[in-house]
Amino acid sequence: MHVTSEQEMHDLGSRLGSLFVGGEVVELVGDVGAGKTTFTKGLAQGLGVSESVQSPSFTISRVYDGRDDLRLEHYDFYRLSDPGIMKDELAESVADDKTVVVIEWGGSVSDILPADRLVIGISSPGEFERDVKLRATGDRSQAILKELL
Ligand SMILES: Nc1ncnc2c1ncn2[C@@H]1O[C@H](COP(=O)(O)OP(=O)(O)OP(=O)(O)O)[C@@H](O)[C@H]1O
Ligand SMILES: [Mg+2]
Repeated sequence: MHVTSEQEMHDLGSRLGSLFVGGEVVELVGDVGAGKTTFTKGLAQGLGVSESVQSPSFTISRVYDGRDDLRLEHYDFYRLSDPGIMKDELAESVADDKTVVVIEWGGSVSDILPADRLVIGISSPGEFERDVKLRATGDRSQAILKELL
């Protein structure tokens, strides 16, 4: 999928978030400045989060309340080479069916990510251009992708 503005990336995230019912896990893959956090801000909107979403880079994770008793947990492991006990917290969140988990720079925690998740790869061929690749790794995320596309 080709995206040509920050707003369009936000809208894509928002459309995806509005399809979520809880328990979804999204892994965002892309370089610094690709638009992972921008996408997450849109996703938060689709989940009915009213608070403004900030990059969790320094705190590693941030939690937001959304619609229908859902929680958004946004992780960014960029500055944490050894996730240590954060892994336990993440594993609990992943198992919770009221929580939607979004992960940036999740390479160091890939062993505890669920088999069924959405993997979203973003590359930037130009200043405002982004190529977004959406991949489902199981039936449940596949069903969501089908609705989105
Ligand atoms: N089409 C686009 N989609 C998303 N962001 C865009 C686009 N065009 C320009 N941008 C800009 O690219 C930047 C994306 O930043 P963002 O924080 O979302 O990236 P990130 O992938 O989360 O980076 P990091 O790995 O540092 O957390 C923003 O400054 C945004 O304005
Ligand atoms: Mg980010």
